[in-house]
Amino acid sequence: MNFKIALIRGDGIGPEVVEEAVGVLETVGARFGHSYEWIDVLMGGCAYDAKGTPYPEGTKEACQRADAVLLGAVGGPKWDNLPPALRPEKALLAIRSDLGLYANLRPAALRPALKAACPLRSDIADKGFDLMLLRELTGGIYFGERKRYQTEDRGEEASDLMKYSEMEIERIGRRAFELARLRRKKVVSVDKANVLETSRLWRAVMHRLAAEYPDVAYSDMLVDNCAMQLVRDPSFFDVLVTENMFGDILSDEASMLTGSIGLLPSASIGDRTPGLYEPIHGSAPDIAGQDKANPVAAILSAAMMFRYSFRLAGEAAAIEKAVDLALSSGCRTADMAGSGAPLGTREMGKIIRGNI
Ligand code: NAI
Ligand code: MG
Repeated sequence: MNFKIALIRGDGIGPEVVEEAVGVLETVGARFGHSYEWIDVLMGGCAYDAKGTPYPEGTKEACQRADAVLLGAVGGPKWDNLPPALRPEKALLAIRSDLGLYANLRPAALRPALKAACPLRSDIADKGFDLMLLRELTGGIYFGERKRYQTEDRGEEASDLMKYSEMEIERIGRRAFELARLRRKKVVSVDKANVLETSRLWRAVMHRLAAEYPDVAYSDMLVDNCAMQLVRDPSFFDVLVTENMFGDILSDEASMLTGSIGLLPSASIGDRTPGLYEPIHGSAPDIAGQDKANPVAAILSAAMMFRYSFRLAGEAAAIEKAVDLALSSGCRTADMAGSGAPLGTREMGKIIRGNI
């Protein structure tokens, strides 16, 4: 098949890790008989430097024309003092909302070769874990009405509104059940239904959906309990689905359990729009341009692209196996604990391509 892929290389280590992911995609293409049309798209600090805006005209349209978008990272200290509307992060929010990317997939898996990097007790780490956190990305308290005003007797007061509609809950809920069918067929929905009305609606909609997916095991969990269970026994989880803010916090907690930030991919998906695939890390200005960045998160993002946008699980698994083989044969970049001299970004990419 031929795939149109928009590349947002971005800032800092973004271009370095995207280059390795592109190399891996090319290798997979050669092996499985796919070709690509690459569309280079300008976004972030580099776009501000070139065009005076982090989100130039044409960026959105170029991404909409693609089958999927691969993003490195945007931002860095060079642009930190710009007004909010011109900051690189603004472009990130804009592209997510322009593409209607309401479902954020954050896998957290302990790669077998990296058990020693897991901060949990060794008897827990030895069991391993492989969970998928599905976070609602375009609703909830982060998008509700914000207020701040002076009161007569209590000083200033502020409020943020948490709001969800059945439509928003149902579409993310369906994604969770569909995802579980591709995995171990287990969904845990995380809410705070003992306190919040939005959570009671969330739970009601999830229960209705659960009845439509009798082949998937379903349960509810309160968010505070979930925070505990994640460190007590992460192997309990398969798919976790939750609202925006809970997902923000729990996904960071889950990612810490896997060792390095340089390993974790993510996907953001909507309906009838190209998915956006990106490492969870930022532009790492402290190591940019030094061939030190770990390209694995970007490479595993390319694997997610095959699995979730192109529905080609074999190609995705080939990439994941190639990464695991590199790690189990001792290959490490500087961010991962290991013995011996660390590999550079390009060398790590080359080894993974070789394994494919
Ligand atoms: P960061 O993720 O860029 O870096 C945090 C630490 O992890 C640094 O010490 C960095 O060297 C290390 N690190 C990150 N990725 C790595 C990799 N692939 N290999 C090896 N080491 C890696 O987060 P930070 O420092 O908070 O943000 C830096 C810039 O990135 C900021 O301008 C921030 O706004 C932006 N950012 C952009 C994101 C995006 O484009 N999606 C996400 C997060 C931050
Ligand atoms: Mg966060």
